[in-house]
Amino acid sequence: MRERRSTTSRRNFLRASAGAAVGLGAARPLRGSPAVLRSGVAPVAIASGNGMEAVDTAFRLMSGGGDTLDAVVEGVNVVERDPDDTSVGFGGLPNLDGVVQLDSSVMHGPSRGAGAVACLEGIKTPSRVAADVMRHTDHVLLVGKGAQRFAVSMGHAVEDLLTDGSRRRWIEWRAKMSDTDDYLAPESPGRRIPPFEDDADRGAEILDSHDGVRPQGTINCNAVNRDGDLSGVTTTSGLAWKIPGRVGDSPIVGAGLYVDNDVGACGSTGRGEAVIKTCGSHSVIESMRSGMSPTDACLEALRRVVTFTTEARLRDAGGRPNFNVNYYAVNKRGEYGGAAIWSGARFAVCSDGESRREDSAYLFERGS
Ligand code: GLY
Repeated sequence: MRERRSTTSRRNFLRASAGAAVGLGAARPLRGSPAVLRSGVAPVAIASGNGMEAVDTAFRLMSGGGDTLDAVVEGVNVVERDPDDTSVGFGGLPNLDGVVQLDSSVMHGPSRGAGAVACLEGIKTPSRVAADVMRHTDHVLLVGKGAQRFAVSMGHAVEDLLTDGSRRRWIEWRAKMSDTDDYLAPESPGRRIPPFEDDADRGAEILDSHDGVRPQGTINCNAVNRDGDLSGVTTTSGLAWKIPGRVGDSPIVGAGLYVDNDVGACGSTGRGEAVIKTCGSHSVIESMRSGMSPTDACLEALRRVVTFTTEARLRDAGGRPNFNVNYYAVNKRGEYGGAAIWSGARFAVCSDGESRREDSAYLFERGS
C-alpha cells in the first residue's frame, strides 16, 4: 500500500509552522509552560474545503477580540444557512424518508465546555443549538424531538429545511431504489445523480454503494486565537438517504470533534462510522499531545481507520477503504494541517487575514 504526503501541503505546513510558531520551533511536544505557549501565537481558523467563508468569518471575529467558539460557530452558520450547500443545515440532503436530520457538536477550549445535538429536525443552524446545550444545560448531547423542543425553547425557529434542489435529488434517488417498487423510474434509466462538481473543495465525500453515489458532506471549523485559546465545531446533514435516526460522527465528542485547550482542536468529515469506531478526533489530539505535528497526527488517525476497515463491502480491490475520511487540526501554537485517506482533498484556512485552500496530505493516491 502506497503512502504519500502532499508536497503542497508539506510546503504550506512548513510555511505555516515558520510563520505561526515564532520562537517556539515546529512540532515540539506541547508540554511546555503555558506562560511560554501563550505568547506569539498567530490566530488561525481551519475548516473543511467547503468552509472558505467560515474561516474568513471566524478569523475576522477573532481579530476583533471575539471568543473562539463564537467565531467558529458564526463561521459555519454561513454555510448552514446556504441553501446551495447540500451537506449541512438548510438544503442539506435528507434521510431515506425525505426528512433532513442534522447533527452538530461544539467544544470551547478555555471553559472545557461541550455541547451537541443529533437527529435534529427543522432548525437551520444546529451548531447554535449545540452551543446552547453547552451554555444552558447540564448535559452534553440532546437528540431528536427533545433536541428540537429545547431549540424552540431557546428561540430557534422550526422551518422546512428541504429546498427545491434537495427535494429533487431525493426524489431522483428514491426512483432509482428498485425497479419493482411503486416509484416510477427517472426519465433516463441508469443515470447517476451527479456528485458535486467540486467535491474535494466542498468537503463532500462520495461513497459508492449498491444504490449509487451517496453524498456525505459536513463542515468542521477549528480556531486558535492569539492567546492560544481554541474552539471547534462540526455540523452536518450526514449521509444522504440515511436510515432515519442514523447518527454520524459529527455530534460525537471525541469522534467528529475534539478540543483540548492545552493541545489543539481537531474535527472530521467523511464516513462517520469509521471515525466513531476509531475515536478519530480524540486520537489526533492525543498524538499532538505526544509531540506529533497536526498533519502527522491526522495521518496516524487515518491509518487506524484503514486498520479498522475489515468489511469486504468497504474495501477496494487493493484492500483499502472505498470511502474517504478527512481530519483538520490546529495546535496551540497555531500550526495546522489536514489529511485524508485519498488524495485530492483540500481544506480551507485563514491566517493573517488571508483565506485560501490548501491540499490535504493523504495515505493513498486516487487511481493507484
Ligand atoms: N461525517 C459526517 C457523517 O458521517 O455523518
